[in-house]
Amino acid sequence: KQQESLYEAIGGKPVLDRLVETFYSNVKSHPDLIPIFPEDLTETARKQKQFLTQFLGGPRRYTEEHGHPMLRARHLPFTITKKRASAWLSCMEDAMDEIELEGPAREEMMQRLTMTARNMINTPED
Ligand code: HEM
Repeated sequence: KQQESLYEAIGGKPVLDRLVETFYSNVKSHPDLIPIFPEDLTETARKQKQFLTQFLGGPRRYTEEHGHPMLRARHLPFTITKKRASAWLSCMEDAMDEIELEGPAREEMMQRLTMTARNMINTPED
């Protein structure tokens, strides 16, 4: 039997959709993140749903529409400090709490997001 992906383990599309919506509503009100995100996060959330789907081993929706993610390169136009990476991760932790995503799949997802977030840091703290 094929091993279940993290995408399936967290509950698939309905759970990921709720997670991403909740995450961006947190981003919208985080003082450290407001300055670098667009006011309308509809398109950002749509792309993030596609990306996280494939990041967690689900269908390759992001690459189908946008090509290789090149995440670090796509984040270079934005000033990303250690403080902003922590803010991003805390918005995600809070979103997981809010939708009551629990258990080993949550822990593994959070670990992978933490490594990726650290990799996005492109500016020293001022
Ligand atoms: C896009 C900030 C970490 C995935 C963006 C955008 C900003 C941003 C400002 C552009 C939004 C827009 O104009 O639509 C940050 C900050 C991070 C962070 C401050 C802190 C470390 C991450 C992580 C991931 C991620 C960890 C994935 C696990 C994406 C994706 C996009 C994006 C998929 C859309 C790229 C595209 O335009 O195709 N991020 N991000 N980001 N971010 Fe992040």
